[in-house]
Amino acid sequence: MGIRQFLDIGTGLPTADNTHEIAQRVAPEARIVYVDNDPLVLAHARVLLTSTPEGVTDYLDADLHDTDAILRDAARTLDFDRPVALILSGILGHLADYEEARAIVKRLVDALPSGSHLVVCDGTDTDETLNEAQEHHNEGGASMYHLRSPEQIAGFFDGLELLEPGVTPCSRWRPETSTTGVLTEAHAYSGVGRKP
Ligand SMILES: C[S@@+](CC[C@H](N)C(=O)[O-])C[C@H]1O[C@@H](n2cnc3c(N)ncnc32)[C@H](O)[C@@H]1O
Repeated sequence: MGIRQFLDIGTGLPTADNTHEIAQRVAPEARIVYVDNDPLVLAHARVLLTSTPEGVTDYLDADLHDTDAILRDAARTLDFDRPVALILSGILGHLADYEEARAIVKRLVDALPSGSHLVVCDGTDTDETLNEAQEHHNEGGASMYHLRSPEQIAGFFDGLELLEPGVTPCSRWRPETSTTGVLTEAHAYSGVGRKP
C-alpha cells in the first residue's frame, strides 16, 4: 500500500490542489498535517481543514526550527509507526545556513519509520539573472531566500534511496506533459527519497 500520511511543512497560502486534496482524491482516508509559521497562512487555515470524512487534516502554527514541537503535535494526527511523506517544498531556502537546514531535515527524517519518504523542492542558483534578482530581493531583508546548488539540494537526501529520476529540475520530475504543455527549464530542483 502507498503512503497515506503526509507532513507538509511550509504549507504556504491555500491554493488549488492543496496536499490533502490531491492525496485524498487518491486515498480518501489520507491524513495530512500542515505546518507554517506565517500568521497569514494561519488566518486561511480553515481552507486546509476540509478533509474527507474518512481522512483527517490538521494545521500547526509552528516553526521549522522547532522540530520537537512539530513532531509532538503532528503525532496527534499521524501514526509515526507507519510511513509518512515529509514534504519540504519551497521552505529550506528560508534557512540561511545550509548545515543547519541539513540538520533539521535529518532530525525530522530520523523520527520517521522505514518506508517513509522525503520530498524536497527548492530554488537553485542555476540562472544568473535569477541569482541577481534574489540577491537584490534579499538586500531588502524581508523573507530572504537562499538559492542552493543542485548538489546541495541532493545533499538533503543523504542516507535515503532516491526515486527515479533523482534530483532534477521540478519541471522534469515525472512531468505529465498532457497537463503542463511544453516543458520549460525550472530553476528549482526536486527529488523524492525513501527511507530504507
Ligand atoms: C515559498 S512558500 C512555499 C509554499 C508551498 N509549500 C509551495 O511549495 O508552493 C514558503 C512557506 O514556508 C513558510 N516558512 C518559512 N520559514 C518557515 C519556518 N521557519 N517555519 C515554518 N514555516 C516557514 C512561509 O511562511 C511560507 O508559507
